[in-house]
Amino acid sequence: MTPERAPGDRQLWSQWQESWDRQQQRFLPDREERFSVLTTLVRAISPKSAPRVLDLACGCGSITSRILRRIPDVQVVAADIDPVLLRIAEGVFEGDARVALSEVDLRRPNWPTLLPSSEFDAIVTATALHWLEPDQLADVYRALTGLLRPGGLFADADQVPLAATPALDRAAAALIPESAGDGEGWEEWWERVAKDSDFTELLEERNQRFGGVLHPAEFTPTADWHLEALAEAGFSEAAVVWRHGAAAVVAALL
Ligand SMILES: C[S@@+](CC[C@H](N)C(=O)[O-])C[C@H]1O[C@@H](n2cnc3c(N)ncnc32)[C@H](O)[C@@H]1O
Repeated sequence: MTPERAPGDRQLWSQWQESWDRQQQRFLPDREERFSVLTTLVRAISPKSAPRVLDLACGCGSITSRILRRIPDVQVVAADIDPVLLRIAEGVFEGDARVALSEVDLRRPNWPTLLPSSEFDAIVTATALHWLEPDQLADVYRALTGLLRPGGLFADADQVPLAATPALDRAAAALIPESAGDGEGWEEWWERVAKDSDFTELLEERNQRFGGVLHPAEFTPTADWHLEALAEAGFSEAAVVWRHGAAAVVAALL
């Protein structure tokens, strides 16, 4: 059921974020563990107070919410292209001075200039960069080096197939079931958004930005591809720091 909304009602926007989390969790049962890895890495490289974090392709701010809970004095910029998901994030974080939202299209080279700040201690992202084409992703990696302070962290949790072992890769994929349990899936969630008149214009805008498709490209290269692209972009260290079957967290330090 679509929650009734009043302006400024953070609880109802949080319900949208929670239902997003549930539908994501259905096909990513280890999603919370992935987020926990990202947050732990942010803490590990940010011993000082008030670390500055960029949540890249933030959706409705799920990673930002986890980071705020674990690192209360954090400052986060949460950036995405999707006006529907950003509207939900805006409702969730309304009045929270620690969070700034930013509308960016990572496919466009000007996206770093649209952020309200730079010199981040950490840039985190999950389940998102596989929406980019290979050249676009390599460009994004290069752009990240201009946004991080020296020694700053980049960490991405996503599907990262095992290299040169396709049979093992298929077997490892079975470690993460295609769907964990019942409940609303990706399509049903978007159908519910479409039924809510408050989202009509934002959804039209979203469809234009993505050319009318619910989910664009799927570029999921091996870890070697990521590590080489990150080194080529200028990161001094890059490695897979966590793996669960065909999912991994690739991290890099500037
Ligand atoms: C599956 S969602 C993951 C969102 C969030 N990281 C999470 O884990 O809940 C993928 C996100 O990537 C964003 N995205 C895809 N292409 C993008 C682009 N070109 N620029 C900015 N964000 C993009 C989508 O709008 C969406 O929010």
